[in-house]
Amino acid sequence: MAVLAASLTGIGVAAQAAPDPGGAGDSAGAPGSGDAYFPYAGNGGYDVLHYDLDLRYAPPSDPAVLQGNLSGVATITLRATEDLETLNFDLRGLDVTAVSVDGKGAKHGKSHDGGTSEWSQVQDGVNRVWELTIGLRPELEAGQVARIVVEYGGVTGRPTDTTGALYGWVTTADGALVVNEPDGASTWYPVNDDPEDKATYTFNITVPEGKTAVANGLPADRPATKDGWTTWAWDATDPMASYLSTASVGDFVLQYATGPRRLPVINAIDKDVAGDALARTTDSLALQPQMIRFLETLFGRYPFEAFGAIVDDDSVDYALETQTRPLYSGVAGEETVVHELGHQWFGNAVSPADWQHIWLNEGWATYIEWLWAEHRGLATVAQQFTATVTSLDTNNRWGMDIADPGRDNLFSPAVYQRGAAALHALRVRIGDDAFFGGARLWVDRYDDSSATTEDFQAVMEEASGEPLDTFFNEWLREPARPAVIP
Ligand code: ARG
Ligand code: ZN
Repeated sequence: MAVLAASLTGIGVAAQAAPDPGGAGDSAGAPGSGDAYFPYAGNGGYDVLHYDLDLRYAPPSDPAVLQGNLSGVATITLRATEDLETLNFDLRGLDVTAVSVDGKGAKHGKSHDGGTSEWSQVQDGVNRVWELTIGLRPELEAGQVARIVVEYGGVTGRPTDTTGALYGWVTTADGALVVNEPDGASTWYPVNDDPEDKATYTFNITVPEGKTAVANGLPADRPATKDGWTTWAWDATDPMASYLSTASVGDFVLQYATGPRRLPVINAIDKDVAGDALARTTDSLALQPQMIRFLETLFGRYPFEAFGAIVDDDSVDYALETQTRPLYSGVAGEETVVHELGHQWFGNAVSPADWQHIWLNEGWATYIEWLWAEHRGLATVAQQFTATVTSLDTNNRWGMDIADPGRDNLFSPAVYQRGAAALHALRVRIGDDAFFGGARLWVDRYDDSSATTEDFQAVMEEASGEPLDTFFNEWLREPARPAVIP
Protein backbone atom coordinates (compact mmCIF):
# COMPACT_ATOMS: atom_id res chain seq x y z
CA MET A 1 0.00 0.00 0.00
CA ALA A 2 1.18 3.47 -0.90
CA VAL A 3 1.04 4.66 2.70
CA LEU A 4 3.73 2.32 3.86
CA ALA A 5 5.88 2.50 0.75
CA ALA A 6 6.06 6.25 1.14
CA SER A 7 6.87 6.14 4.81
CA LEU A 8 8.95 3.12 5.72
CA THR A 9 12.10 5.03 5.00
CA GLY A 10 12.14 6.39 8.50
CA ILE A 11 10.41 8.62 10.93
CA GLY A 12 9.56 11.05 8.17
CA VAL A 13 6.31 12.91 7.91
CA ALA A 14 4.66 12.27 4.60
CA ALA A 15 1.44 13.21 2.94
CA GLN A 16 -1.00 10.37 3.04
CA ALA A 17 -3.63 9.13 0.65
CA ALA A 18 -7.20 9.05 1.89
CA PRO A 19 -8.09 5.93 3.88
CA ASP A 20 -9.12 3.14 1.59
CA PRO A 21 -11.46 0.99 3.63
CA GLY A 22 -12.38 -1.07 0.59
CA GLY A 23 -8.74 -1.61 -0.32
CA ALA A 24 -8.61 -5.34 0.15
CA GLY A 25 -6.16 -7.29 -1.90
CA ASP A 26 -3.02 -5.95 -0.27
CA SER A 27 -2.36 -6.86 3.32
CA ALA A 28 -2.01 -3.46 4.94
CA GLY A 29 -4.51 -2.67 7.68
CA ALA A 30 -6.38 0.51 6.74
CA PRO A 31 -5.20 3.72 8.45
CA GLY A 32 -8.76 4.76 9.27
CA SER A 33 -11.94 3.03 10.45
CA GLY A 34 -14.26 4.80 8.05
CA ASP A 35 -15.67 7.52 10.30
CA ALA A 36 -16.81 10.40 8.08
CA TYR A 37 -15.83 13.03 10.67
CA PHE A 38 -12.47 11.56 11.71
CA PRO A 39 -11.21 9.57 8.72
CA TYR A 40 -7.86 8.73 10.30
CA ALA A 41 -9.12 7.85 13.76
CA GLY A 42 -9.16 4.12 14.23
CA ASN A 43 -7.58 1.59 11.92
CA GLY A 44 -8.55 -1.48 9.98
CA GLY A 45 -7.59 -5.13 9.99
CA TYR A 46 -7.61 -5.99 13.67
CA ASP A 47 -9.55 -5.93 16.90
CA VAL A 48 -7.82 -4.90 20.13
CA LEU A 49 -8.56 -7.21 23.05
CA HIS A 50 -6.54 -5.53 25.78
CA TYR A 51 -4.36 -2.48 26.43
CA ASP A 52 -1.78 -2.72 29.18
CA LEU A 53 -0.44 0.80 29.72
CA ASP A 54 2.66 1.27 31.78
CA LEU A 55 3.13 5.03 32.10
CA ARG A 56 5.64 7.23 33.82
CA TYR A 57 4.78 10.91 34.11
CA ALA A 58 6.59 13.93 35.47
CA PRO A 59 4.24 16.92 35.84
CA PRO A 60 5.55 20.38 34.92
CA SER A 61 8.60 21.40 36.93
CA ASP A 62 7.64 25.02 36.38
CA PRO A 63 3.87 25.50 36.76
CA ALA A 64 4.10 28.56 34.53
CA VAL A 65 5.17 26.31 31.65
CA LEU A 66 2.49 23.68 31.18
CA GLN A 67 4.65 20.89 29.84
CA GLY A 68 5.18 17.49 31.39
CA ASN A 69 7.14 14.41 30.49
CA LEU A 70 5.42 11.18 29.61
CA SER A 71 6.95 7.86 28.75
CA GLY A 72 5.07 4.67 28.20
CA VAL A 73 5.23 1.01 27.41
CA ALA A 74 1.98 -0.04 25.77
CA THR A 75 1.39 -3.77 25.48
CA ILE A 76 -1.48 -4.27 23.07
CA THR A 77 -3.09 -7.67 22.60
CA LEU A 78 -5.02 -7.83 19.36
CA ARG A 79 -6.61 -10.26 16.95
CA ALA A 80 -6.10 -9.85 13.22
CA THR A 81 -9.36 -9.75 11.27
CA GLU A 82 -7.57 -10.10 7.93
CA ASP A 83 -4.12 -11.21 6.79
CA LEU A 84 -1.77 -8.37 7.70
CA GLU A 85 1.75 -7.41 6.68
CA THR A 86 1.37 -4.06 8.38
CA LEU A 87 -1.04 -2.43 10.75
CA ASN A 88 -1.50 1.06 12.13
CA PHE A 89 -2.05 2.64 15.51
CA ASP A 90 -3.05 6.24 16.10
CA LEU A 91 -0.37 8.08 18.08
CA ARG A 92 0.07 11.80 18.11
CA GLY A 93 2.92 14.05 19.16
CA LEU A 94 4.98 11.36 20.89
CA ASP A 95 8.05 9.51 19.67
CA VAL A 96 8.38 5.77 19.43
CA THR A 97 11.67 4.28 20.58
CA ALA A 98 11.03 0.55 20.19
CA VAL A 99 8.43 -1.86 18.90
CA SER A 100 8.23 -5.60 19.33
CA VAL A 101 5.76 -8.15 18.04
CA ASP A 102 5.26 -11.35 20.03
CA GLY A 103 8.48 -10.79 21.90
CA LYS A 104 10.67 -10.41 18.86
CA GLY A 105 12.77 -7.30 19.10
CA ALA A 106 12.09 -4.74 16.48
CA LYS A 107 14.31 -2.45 14.54
CA HIS A 108 12.79 0.89 14.10
CA GLY A 109 13.34 3.68 11.68
CA LYS A 110 14.76 1.19 9.20
CA SER A 111 13.13 -0.98 6.65
CA HIS A 112 13.47 -4.66 5.89
CA ASP A 113 17.00 -5.25 7.18
CA GLY A 114 16.54 -8.09 9.54
CA GLY A 115 14.12 -6.68 12.09
CA THR A 116 10.81 -8.32 12.71
CA SER A 117 9.04 -5.01 12.68
CA GLU A 118 9.42 -1.55 11.29
CA TRP A 119 7.58 1.57 12.17
CA SER A 120 7.00 4.97 10.75
CA GLN A 121 4.68 7.86 11.33
CA VAL A 122 2.51 9.58 8.80
CA GLN A 123 0.67 12.78 9.54
CA ASP A 124 -2.81 13.54 8.36
CA GLY A 125 -2.88 17.26 7.66
CA VAL A 126 -6.63 17.53 8.12
CA ASN A 127 -7.23 16.06 11.53
CA ARG A 128 -3.70 16.12 12.86
CA VAL A 129 -3.79 12.43 13.68
CA TRP A 130 -0.53 10.58 13.40
CA GLU A 131 -0.44 7.08 12.09
CA LEU A 132 2.11 4.70 13.54
CA THR A 133 2.64 1.93 11.02
CA ILE A 134 4.11 -1.34 12.22
CA GLY A 135 5.52 -3.95 9.88
CA LEU A 136 4.70 -7.54 10.80
CA ARG A 137 7.13 -10.24 9.95
CA PRO A 138 6.06 -12.96 9.68
CA GLU A 139 2.72 -11.59 8.65
CA LEU A 140 -0.30 -12.04 10.87
CA GLU A 141 -3.00 -14.31 9.60
CA ALA A 142 -6.67 -13.53 10.01
CA GLY A 143 -7.78 -14.78 13.42
CA GLN A 144 -4.29 -14.82 14.89
CA VAL A 145 -3.67 -13.08 18.22
CA ALA A 146 -0.51 -10.99 18.63
CA ARG A 147 1.06 -8.98 21.42
CA ILE A 148 2.60 -5.74 20.29
CA VAL A 149 4.77 -3.71 22.63
CA VAL A 150 5.36 -0.05 21.83
CA GLU A 151 7.83 2.03 23.83
CA TYR A 152 7.28 5.71 23.40
CA GLY A 153 7.40 9.09 25.06
CA GLY A 154 7.83 12.81 24.82
CA VAL A 155 6.88 16.20 26.12
CA THR A 156 3.19 16.72 26.88
CA GLY A 157 1.31 19.95 26.27
CA ARG A 158 -2.30 21.06 25.97
CA PRO A 159 -3.84 19.44 22.89
CA THR A 160 -7.08 20.80 21.41
CA ASP A 161 -9.83 19.23 19.31
CA THR A 162 -10.87 20.58 15.89
CA THR A 163 -13.06 23.22 17.59
CA GLY A 164 -10.24 24.47 19.82
CA ALA A 165 -11.43 22.80 23.04
CA LEU A 166 -8.78 21.24 25.28
CA TYR A 167 -8.78 17.45 25.26
CA GLY A 168 -6.52 14.39 25.36
CA TRP A 169 -3.60 14.45 27.79
CA VAL A 170 -4.04 18.00 29.10
CA THR A 171 -1.00 19.03 31.13
CA THR A 172 -1.97 20.94 34.28
CA ALA A 173 0.07 22.78 36.89
CA ASP A 174 -0.16 19.83 39.29
CA GLY A 175 -0.48 16.90 36.89
CA ALA A 176 -2.69 16.03 33.94
CA LEU A 177 -6.40 16.04 33.23
CA VAL A 178 -7.11 13.30 30.69
CA VAL A 179 -10.32 13.54 28.63
CA ASN A 180 -10.26 12.08 25.12
CA GLU A 181 -13.63 12.59 23.50
CA PRO A 182 -13.80 12.40 20.53
CA ASP A 183 -10.37 11.52 19.10
CA GLY A 184 -7.83 12.53 21.77
CA ALA A 185 -6.73 9.11 23.11
CA SER A 186 -3.85 9.08 20.64
CA THR A 187 -2.26 11.99 22.52
CA TRP A 188 -1.15 9.54 25.22
CA TYR A 189 -1.03 5.98 23.90
CA PRO A 190 -0.94 4.06 20.62
CA VAL A 191 -4.55 3.15 20.01
CA ASN A 192 -7.19 1.92 17.61
CA ASP A 193 -9.19 5.07 18.26
CA ASP A 194 -12.56 3.80 17.10
CA PRO A 195 -15.52 3.51 19.51
CA GLU A 196 -16.46 0.27 17.76
CA ASP A 197 -13.27 -1.43 18.96
CA LYS A 198 -13.78 -1.79 22.71
CA ALA A 199 -11.14 -3.44 24.87
CA THR A 200 -10.24 -4.03 28.49
CA TYR A 201 -7.42 -2.02 30.10
CA THR A 202 -4.84 -2.24 32.83
CA PHE A 203 -2.91 0.82 33.95
CA ASN A 204 0.31 1.20 35.91
CA ILE A 205 0.96 4.89 36.31
CA THR A 206 4.17 6.00 37.97
CA VAL A 207 4.23 9.56 39.27
CA PRO A 208 6.35 11.52 41.75
CA GLU A 209 5.70 10.48 45.35
CA GLY A 210 2.82 12.55 46.75
CA LYS A 211 0.92 12.69 43.45
CA THR A 212 -2.10 10.48 42.84
CA ALA A 213 -2.92 8.83 39.50
CA VAL A 214 -6.54 7.79 38.86
CA ALA A 215 -7.77 5.71 35.97
CA ASN A 216 -10.89 3.72 35.08
CA GLY A 217 -12.15 0.71 36.98
CA LEU A 218 -10.80 -0.54 40.28
CA PRO A 219 -7.45 -0.33 42.06
CA ALA A 220 -5.48 -3.43 41.13
CA ASP A 221 -2.92 -3.08 43.87
CA ARG A 222 -1.81 -0.78 46.67
CA PRO A 223 0.24 2.16 45.47
CA ALA A 224 3.93 1.19 45.65
CA THR A 225 6.67 3.74 46.25
CA LYS A 226 10.31 3.38 45.32
CA ASP A 227 13.03 6.00 44.92
CA GLY A 228 10.59 8.89 45.19
CA TRP A 229 8.15 7.54 42.58
CA THR A 230 4.78 5.93 43.28
CA THR A 231 3.06 3.47 40.97
CA TRP A 232 -0.74 3.44 40.90
CA ALA A 233 -2.35 0.33 39.42
CA TRP A 234 -5.89 0.29 38.00
CA ASP A 235 -7.84 -2.42 36.26
CA ALA A 236 -10.75 -1.76 33.89
CA THR A 237 -12.27 -5.16 33.27
CA ASP A 238 -15.36 -4.08 31.34
CA PRO A 239 -14.90 -3.42 27.63
CA MET A 240 -14.32 0.28 27.02
CA ALA A 241 -14.15 2.60 24.02
CA SER A 242 -10.82 4.44 23.87
CA TYR A 243 -12.43 7.89 24.11
CA LEU A 244 -13.60 6.94 27.63
CA SER A 245 -10.20 5.98 29.03
CA THR A 246 -8.42 8.24 31.52
CA ALA A 247 -5.27 8.31 33.65
CA SER A 248 -5.47 11.65 35.40
CA VAL A 249 -2.71 12.83 37.70
CA GLY A 250 -2.89 15.42 40.45
CA ASP A 251 -3.00 16.26 44.14
CA PHE A 252 -6.08 14.14 44.65
CA VAL A 253 -7.59 12.81 47.84
CA LEU A 254 -9.33 9.45 47.35
CA GLN A 255 -12.66 8.69 49.02
CA TYR A 256 -14.31 5.28 49.06
CA ALA A 257 -18.05 4.66 49.29
CA THR A 258 -20.46 2.01 48.04
CA GLY A 259 -23.53 1.99 45.85
CA PRO A 260 -26.19 -0.67 45.28
CA ARG A 261 -24.97 -4.27 45.76
CA ARG A 262 -21.81 -2.82 47.33
CA LEU A 263 -20.71 -1.35 44.02
CA PRO A 264 -17.41 0.40 44.77
CA VAL A 265 -17.70 4.19 44.40
CA ILE A 266 -14.30 5.88 44.33
CA ASN A 267 -13.97 9.65 44.18
CA ALA A 268 -10.74 11.57 43.61
CA ILE A 269 -10.98 15.20 44.67
CA ASP A 270 -8.26 17.71 44.00
CA LYS A 271 -7.01 19.24 47.27
CA ASP A 272 -7.36 22.69 45.73
CA VAL A 273 -11.11 22.37 45.23
CA ALA A 274 -12.37 24.48 48.13
CA GLY A 275 -15.13 26.68 49.51
CA ASP A 276 -18.44 26.72 47.69
CA ALA A 277 -17.17 24.48 44.86
CA LEU A 278 -16.14 21.84 47.39
CA ALA A 279 -19.46 22.09 49.26
CA ARG A 280 -21.47 21.67 46.04
CA THR A 281 -19.20 18.84 44.86
CA THR A 282 -19.49 16.99 48.17
CA ASP A 283 -23.29 17.32 48.17
CA SER A 284 -23.72 16.04 44.63
CA LEU A 285 -21.23 13.19 44.96
CA ALA A 286 -23.04 12.04 48.11
CA LEU A 287 -26.10 11.52 45.89
CA GLN A 288 -24.31 9.13 43.51
CA PRO A 289 -25.64 5.90 45.13
CA GLN A 290 -29.21 7.26 45.04
CA MET A 291 -28.80 8.36 41.44
CA ILE A 292 -27.56 4.89 40.47
CA ARG A 293 -30.55 3.27 42.18
CA PHE A 294 -32.97 5.64 40.44
CA LEU A 295 -31.50 5.04 36.98
CA GLU A 296 -31.43 1.27 37.61
CA THR A 297 -35.20 1.31 38.10
CA LEU A 298 -35.55 2.88 34.64
CA PHE A 299 -32.79 1.33 32.55
CA GLY A 300 -31.66 -1.84 34.29
CA ARG A 301 -28.57 -2.71 36.25
CA TYR A 302 -25.65 -0.26 36.31
CA PRO A 303 -23.39 -1.66 33.58
CA PHE A 304 -19.87 -1.55 35.10
CA GLU A 305 -17.71 -2.75 37.98
CA ALA A 306 -17.32 0.61 39.72
CA PHE A 307 -18.30 4.27 39.69
CA GLY A 308 -17.03 7.52 41.14
CA ALA A 309 -15.61 10.86 40.09
CA ILE A 310 -12.43 12.74 39.38
CA VAL A 311 -12.74 16.41 40.31
CA ASP A 312 -9.82 18.55 39.22
CA ASP A 313 -9.37 22.20 40.14
CA ASP A 314 -7.92 22.73 36.66
CA SER A 315 -10.47 23.10 33.91
CA VAL A 316 -11.15 22.04 30.35
CA ASP A 317 -14.53 23.85 30.67
CA TYR A 318 -16.60 20.69 30.48
CA ALA A 319 -17.13 17.36 32.20
CA LEU A 320 -16.62 13.97 30.57
CA GLU A 321 -18.24 10.61 31.20
CA THR A 322 -14.92 8.70 31.39
CA GLN A 323 -15.97 5.11 31.98
CA THR A 324 -16.73 4.29 35.62
CA ARG A 325 -15.15 7.58 36.73
CA PRO A 326 -16.39 10.81 35.10
CA LEU A 327 -14.12 13.79 35.18
CA TYR A 328 -15.32 17.21 36.36
CA SER A 329 -13.63 20.56 35.89
CA GLY A 330 -13.59 22.77 38.99
CA VAL A 331 -16.88 21.59 40.46
CA ALA A 332 -19.21 18.60 40.16
CA GLY A 333 -22.75 20.01 40.10
CA GLU A 334 -25.75 17.73 40.69
CA GLU A 335 -27.12 18.03 37.12
CA THR A 336 -23.73 17.29 35.66
CA VAL A 337 -23.16 14.28 37.92
CA VAL A 338 -26.45 12.66 36.91
CA HIS A 339 -25.73 13.55 33.26
CA GLU A 340 -22.35 11.77 33.36
CA LEU A 341 -23.85 8.85 35.27
CA GLY A 342 -26.57 8.55 32.60
CA HIS A 343 -23.84 8.26 29.97
CA GLN A 344 -22.64 5.03 31.61
CA TRP A 345 -25.72 3.38 30.05
CA PHE A 346 -26.07 5.70 27.06
CA GLY A 347 -22.68 6.24 25.46
CA ASN A 348 -20.47 3.90 27.47
CA ALA A 349 -22.30 0.56 27.65
CA VAL A 350 -23.80 1.36 24.24
CA SER A 351 -21.51 3.62 22.22
CA PRO A 352 -22.03 5.48 18.95
CA ALA A 353 -20.81 3.35 16.04
CA ASP A 354 -19.75 6.55 14.30
CA TRP A 355 -19.44 10.07 15.66
CA GLN A 356 -22.46 11.36 13.74
CA HIS A 357 -24.67 9.41 16.17
CA ILE A 358 -23.57 11.58 19.11
CA TRP A 359 -27.16 12.66 19.86
CA LEU A 360 -27.75 9.14 21.23
CA ASN A 361 -25.22 10.05 23.93
CA GLU A 362 -26.02 13.67 24.62
CA GLY A 363 -29.79 13.55 24.04
CA TRP A 364 -30.14 10.68 26.50
CA ALA A 365 -27.81 12.19 29.13
CA THR A 366 -29.76 15.46 28.95
CA TYR A 367 -33.08 13.64 29.18
CA ILE A 368 -31.77 11.84 32.25
CA GLU A 369 -31.11 15.25 33.86
CA TRP A 370 -34.80 16.02 33.35
CA LEU A 371 -35.89 12.68 34.82
CA TRP A 372 -33.71 13.23 37.89
CA ALA A 373 -34.93 16.80 38.41
CA GLU A 374 -38.51 15.51 38.31
CA HIS A 375 -37.63 12.74 40.76
CA ARG A 376 -36.17 15.39 43.08
CA GLY A 377 -39.37 17.45 42.82
CA LEU A 378 -37.67 20.40 41.10
CA ALA A 379 -39.57 20.48 37.80
CA THR A 380 -41.62 18.00 35.81
CA VAL A 381 -40.21 16.49 32.64
CA ALA A 382 -43.08 18.14 30.73
CA GLN A 383 -42.07 21.56 32.09
CA GLN A 384 -38.44 21.00 31.16
CA PHE A 385 -39.47 19.85 27.68
CA THR A 386 -41.50 23.04 27.17
CA ALA A 387 -38.65 25.23 28.42
CA THR A 388 -36.23 23.46 26.07
CA VAL A 389 -38.51 23.91 23.07
CA THR A 390 -38.71 27.62 23.94
CA SER A 391 -34.94 27.79 24.16
CA LEU A 392 -34.57 26.03 20.79
CA ASP A 393 -37.05 28.60 19.38
CA THR A 394 -35.41 31.71 20.85
CA ASN A 395 -31.93 30.64 19.92
CA ASN A 396 -32.94 29.48 16.47
CA ARG A 397 -31.58 26.00 16.99
CA TRP A 398 -33.90 23.97 14.75
CA GLY A 399 -31.67 24.28 11.70
CA MET A 400 -29.43 21.31 12.43
CA ASP A 401 -29.73 17.67 11.39
CA ILE A 402 -28.74 16.32 14.79
CA ALA A 403 -28.43 12.77 13.43
CA ASP A 404 -25.52 14.10 11.36
CA PRO A 405 -24.56 17.44 12.92
CA GLY A 406 -21.10 17.80 11.39
CA ARG A 407 -17.70 17.28 12.95
CA ASP A 408 -17.48 20.61 14.70
CA ASN A 409 -21.04 20.54 16.06
CA LEU A 410 -20.76 17.31 18.06
CA PHE A 411 -21.20 19.14 21.35
CA SER A 412 -23.37 22.03 20.24
CA PRO A 413 -26.40 22.85 22.42
CA ALA A 414 -28.76 21.84 19.60
CA VAL A 415 -27.54 18.22 19.87
CA TYR A 416 -28.20 18.12 23.62
CA GLN A 417 -31.48 20.04 23.65
CA ARG A 418 -33.15 18.76 20.50
CA GLY A 419 -31.88 15.28 21.31
CA ALA A 420 -33.59 15.30 24.72
CA ALA A 421 -36.72 16.92 23.27
CA ALA A 422 -36.90 14.23 20.57
CA LEU A 423 -36.75 11.52 23.23
CA HIS A 424 -39.56 13.12 25.18
CA ALA A 425 -41.69 13.56 22.06
CA LEU A 426 -41.06 9.89 21.28
CA ARG A 427 -42.19 8.93 24.78
CA VAL A 428 -45.39 10.93 24.38
CA ARG A 429 -45.97 9.37 20.96
CA ILE A 430 -45.47 5.69 21.88
CA GLY A 431 -46.30 5.73 25.59
CA ASP A 432 -44.26 5.03 28.72
CA ASP A 433 -44.28 1.24 28.48
CA ALA A 434 -42.97 1.12 24.93
CA PHE A 435 -40.51 3.98 25.54
CA PHE A 436 -38.87 2.62 28.69
CA GLY A 437 -39.20 -0.96 27.48
CA GLY A 438 -37.44 0.11 24.28
CA ALA A 439 -34.72 1.90 26.25
CA ARG A 440 -34.00 -1.26 28.24
CA LEU A 441 -34.04 -3.37 25.10
CA TRP A 442 -31.54 -0.96 23.51
CA VAL A 443 -29.12 -1.15 26.44
CA ASP A 444 -29.50 -4.88 26.69
CA ARG A 445 -29.08 -5.62 23.00
CA TYR A 446 -26.09 -3.36 22.37
CA ASP A 447 -24.36 -3.59 25.77
CA ASP A 448 -20.55 -3.64 25.41
CA SER A 449 -20.85 -2.65 21.77
CA SER A 450 -21.89 0.25 19.59
CA ALA A 451 -24.82 1.16 17.40
CA THR A 452 -26.42 3.79 15.17
CA THR A 453 -29.49 6.03 15.03
CA GLU A 454 -31.02 3.52 12.59
CA ASP A 455 -30.46 0.73 15.13
CA PHE A 456 -32.15 2.86 17.79
CA GLN A 457 -35.15 3.55 15.57
CA ALA A 458 -35.46 -0.18 14.85
CA VAL A 459 -35.47 -1.00 18.58
CA MET A 460 -38.12 1.63 19.28
CA GLU A 461 -40.24 0.34 16.37
CA GLU A 462 -39.92 -3.15 17.78
CA ALA A 463 -40.89 -2.00 21.27
CA SER A 464 -43.86 0.08 20.09
CA GLY A 465 -45.00 -1.90 17.07
CA GLU A 466 -45.21 1.38 15.16
CA PRO A 467 -43.34 2.60 12.09
CA LEU A 468 -41.33 5.65 13.19
CA ASP A 469 -39.64 6.84 9.99
CA THR A 470 -41.62 10.06 9.76
CA PHE A 471 -41.18 10.74 13.46
CA PHE A 472 -37.39 10.30 13.44
CA ASN A 473 -37.00 12.41 10.31
CA GLU A 474 -39.06 15.23 11.73
CA TRP A 475 -37.48 15.23 15.18
CA LEU A 476 -33.86 14.62 14.24
CA ARG A 477 -33.09 15.24 10.60
CA GLU A 478 -35.36 17.96 9.16
CA PRO A 479 -33.65 21.31 9.65
CA ALA A 480 -36.90 22.79 10.95
CA ARG A 481 -39.17 22.91 13.98
CA PRO A 482 -41.49 19.86 14.01
CA ALA A 483 -45.04 20.71 12.97
CA VAL A 484 -46.65 19.33 16.10
CA ILE A 485 -45.05 19.81 19.51
CA PRO A 486 -46.69 17.77 22.29
N1 ARG B 1 -19.48 14.32 26.48
C1 ARG B 1 -19.20 15.46 27.30
C2 ARG B 1 -20.49 15.71 28.06
O1 ARG B 1 -21.47 16.18 27.56
C3 ARG B 1 -18.71 16.66 26.53
C4 ARG B 1 -17.38 16.48 25.84
C5 ARG B 1 -16.89 17.70 25.12
N2 ARG B 1 -15.68 17.38 24.43
C6 ARG B 1 -15.00 18.20 23.64
N3 ARG B 1 -13.90 17.75 23.04
N4 ARG B 1 -15.39 19.43 23.44
O2 ARG B 1 -20.65 15.26 29.15
ZN1 ZN C 1 -22.82 14.48 27.84
